[in-house]
Amino acid sequence: MPPDFKELQNEILELKRQRNAIILSHNYQRVEIQDIADYVGDSLELSRKAATIDCELIVFCGVHFMAESASILSPDKTVLLPEIGAGCPMADMIQVNAPRPFREHFPGFDNPPAYVYPAEYSLMDIKRDHPGVPVVAYVNTTADIKAESEICCTSANVVKIIESLPGDTVICIPDKNLSMWAAKNTKKKVIAWDGYCNIHERVTPEDVLRAKEEHPSAVVIAHPECRIDVLELADHVTSTSGMLRFASSSKAHEFVIGTETGLLHRLRTENPGKIFYPLRQDMICPNMKKTTLQSILRAFRENTYVIKVPEEIRVRAKRALDRMLEIV
Ligand code: 13P
Ligand code: SF4
Repeated sequence: MPPDFKELQNEILELKRQRNAIILSHNYQRVEIQDIADYVGDSLELSRKAATIDCELIVFCGVHFMAESASILSPDKTVLLPEIGAGCPMADMIQVNAPRPFREHFPGFDNPPAYVYPAEYSLMDIKRDHPGVPVVAYVNTTADIKAESEICCTSANVVKIIESLPGDTVICIPDKNLSMWAAKNTKKKVIAWDGYCNIHERVTPEDVLRAKEEHPSAVVIAHPECRIDVLELADHVTSTSGMLRFASSSKAHEFVIGTETGLLHRLRTENPGKIFYPLRQDMICPNMKKTTLQSILRAFRENTYVIKVPEEIRVRAKRALDRMLEIV
């Protein structure tokens, strides 16, 4: 680690102590940030921490929707996102209300196993088409989408959340891949929407076949944000922290990891005797990598950037997050 990293880390840790702060880091953050965080985890674990942690200030090293969820769950704490431009393109893909130029050509919705609404549709269009059908919002959504949804889910609990709901149909937004994977693992009908993560979407079945050929003894683990034809070829499908649990309990010695490469740091440190290969070298989320030690230091010094949700939206969004946290 470069020596100036050590200096920056020490300065941050001192400010953290003075401000009674907690640093939360997603599993995809830079190594030098994960190393000074109080908690490193997946979206579900970090939401849980944000809801229960005792501190005055949360510095959230992740992307915007994650800091927003922390602020929704803990409105009395100050939540800082060190890089205001660290967004999640998938979370910004669906809107509550949007133009719908192709509506008259809409072909119907009962093609099994999951019907994917085209991206021109807003959440309100889908709700209007399916009155009374509950909406499950992936946590990778904005606060106003959560506020219009019955319940949230993460990649760690989507099937359990869908099955907790009454009726035989759910609307699951915005990730078509996560929704189709959930549809394959539940008897309920899942109405999906055409969102995706461009980092996970770039993985192809050929990548999996090539990895299996290059590492024939390795177990291939993929994140449910990957395409369904990729997930069908993987040996195991789970969230980022699910991958950590699986790798440490598995008897296998080698693993191919189908998610953002930031997770390799924890996988390798927590499993020193095992070998981990990225499924693709270019699975790097530029938004997750925007946060640096310098931006965390600036966050402490200048109180940047405070994430706060208007109360009317926060209360309704919190209901959806709380319902999820009650179930898992
Ligand atoms: P996890 O919930 O598995 O941490 O995933 C969050 C995410 O943004 C995946 O791209
Ligand atoms: Fe969003 Fe994909 Fe980055 Fe996760 S990896 S934060 S889903 S863009």
